[in-house]
Amino acid sequence: MSRLKMVAGNWKMNKTLQEGVALAAQLKEDVKNPSCAVVIGTPFIHLATVAELLKDSPIKVAAENCADKEKGAFTGEVSAEMVRSTGATYCILGHSERRAYYHEDYEILKNKVELALANGLDVIFCIGEVKEERESGKQNEVVQAQLDGSVFHLSAGQWKHITLAYEPVWAIGTGLTATPSQAQDMHAFIRSLVADKYGAEAAEATTILYGGSCNEKNAAELFACPDIDGGLIGGAALVAEKFEAIIAAR
Ligand code: 13P
Repeated sequence: MSRLKMVAGNWKMNKTLQEGVALAAQLKEDVKNPSCAVVIGTPFIHLATVAELLKDSPIKVAAENCADKEKGAFTGEVSAEMVRSTGATYCILGHSERRAYYHEDYEILKNKVELALANGLDVIFCIGEVKEERESGKQNEVVQAQLDGSVFHLSAGQWKHITLAYEPVWAIGTGLTATPSQAQDMHAFIRSLVADKYGAEAAEATTILYGGSCNEKNAAELFACPDIDGGLIGGAALVAEKFEAIIAAR
């Protein structure tokens, strides 16, 4: 059975509206027939304009976050419903930067995931261990706890809208990519957990991305691993040529 392959970008807090629209326009021009799903995660303020620009393109648009509350008096927050109303169809949740800097715990992320799904968004859910956890051999239990804490309560129907992204925190923005064998081992472990929870068929169908210093030079080698279905790309997604080369490698 073949599962969806994907290259997704996460722009993080980069690009003014004008710069972001210019990048999206370039990608629209260049990426007309990708051999995998392509998603770009942009800051909230770009979503409506970029989604409109890309509406006749195969490129899908993701928010990088959404609120853990449905609506109301939560100054500065953006709800899943508001995200969906922009035309975006994905939401990245559980990113290690949100967990570390904005204290998003399992429970908060669980609420966010549920609200995103309830509002028709597909979720790219990020998991991954920090350096000390890898050094002490705890990476598997950390990742398992992240899944147990925020997404493994979902129904089989909801699970179809989840893409996982394994992002070892020590590899993010550091130039220190996980080796293909480290990444493959973890992806295979994650897939086995999904199989335990949702069955072998659902596990085979689950897209698991790798993220963390994935770039145009190392993408092909990572994507050649049997359980690595694509990438979630930070820095290299900010430059059209680099992001396009990664898409071509998938
Ligand atoms: P880098 O590709 O910049 O390491 O970032 C990865 C990431 O955090 C994607 O979500």
